[in-house]
Amino acid sequence: MRRIAVSLTKDGAAKTTSAVNLAAGLALAGQRVPLIDTDTRGQTGFMLGVNFKRNSCDKETSGSR
Ligand SMILES: Nc1ncnc2c1ncn2[C@@H]1O[C@H](COP(=O)(O)OP(=O)(O)OP(=O)(O)O)[C@@H](O)[C@H]1O
Ligand SMILES: [Mg+2]
Repeated sequence: MRRIAVSLTKDGAAKTTSAVNLAAGLALAGQRVPLIDTDTRGQTGFMLGVNFKRNSCDKETSGSR
């Protein structure tokens, strides 16, 4: 299995966009692709249209948003 990390300290540098499109491209090419988002804002799930319920851990780490 190959692992690819999309990581940068700069905000808004298209990390999530790159990760989602890279994963989509690999999936379209026939690869099985688990996409793991470590950002508690869950933008990757949002981009993929995943409707998830927040759990108590999310509330602990994300404050009052
Ligand atoms: N190639 C592109 N052309 C134009 N806009 C882009 C491009 N790539 C990303 N964007 C836009 O730039 C913004 C930031 O992208 P994205 O959310 O992927 O960045 P990020 O690095 O994950 O940000 P954050 O640090 O907040 O997690 C988004 O509004 C996205 O739609
Ligand atoms: Mg992001």
